[in-house]
Amino acid sequence: MDVGCVSVPADRQGERTGLGITFTEVHMKKIAPSILSADFSRLGEEVRAVEEAGADVIHVDVMDGHFVPNITIGPLVVEGLKKLTSLPLDVHLMIEKPERYIEPFAQAGSTWLTFHVEACSRLRSVIKKVRQLNVRPGIVLNPSTPLKILHPLLEEIDLVLLMSVNPGFAGQSFIPATLKKIERLRKIVDQNRYPVEIEVDGGIKVENIGEVSRAGGDIFVSGSGIFKTKDYAETIRQLRRAINVA
Ligand code: DX5
Ligand code: ZN
Repeated sequence: MDVGCVSVPADRQGERTGLGITFTEVHMKKIAPSILSADFSRLGEEVRAVEEAGADVIHVDVMDGHFVPNITIGPLVVEGLKKLTSLPLDVHLMIEKPERYIEPFAQAGSTWLTFHVEACSRLRSVIKKVRQLNVRPGIVLNPSTPLKILHPLLEEIDLVLLMSVNPGFAGQSFIPATLKKIERLRKIVDQNRYPVEIEVDGGIKVENIGEVSRAGGDIFVSGSGIFKTKDYAETIRQLRRAINVA
């Protein structure tokens, strides 16, 4: 396995996590196209196309018209996606009171379920519920939400998703201050050896994915940066090259 772009302490690379996979496998850097920028009239074809083009994960943006102004999709679509791809489904819940919908999204086939600290007052119990349903829990922070809110929870989650735009819409510009936030979180995760992946979402493209990776990101969500280009395979190759030279 190519481990050229991992950020795992050398002495832990072969060690198994609670998930039965090694720390190296957990921390392989991954590219996650966000279907929000796909052509929804051909969603199946679009997802197959990015899978064939070399994507590692499919990022699914769920919006409820309350937590964010936009409305997108529900568990039915996740269930449909599950049938047509073997890639993990990274389901990003931008919804108020996510606890109400954990079960249907888990049953629909989510691999990760991430929810916003700003939308949930019962973080611990939601994390527990996600795990009980055999799904991997993650927490999302808006650009202006400080990292300190995460500290007591880092032992309990698999993923932290740092928003690099304000949630709600695809096609926005990356907020540069996110880079320092990623660096700080990377330090905390490495110093304490938390088996937590750092995902970054919003405005990521070939031109900036290198610096996001250098700052310490593990999973890179890209919507318009992939789906608005002509040749998905070439774009994903370029994204991967930029990560590897970072
Ligand atoms: C924004 C979503 C993102 C978005 C990314 O609320 O969470 O996943 O689709 O799209 P781009 O890469 O175009 O910023
Ligand atoms: Zn997202």
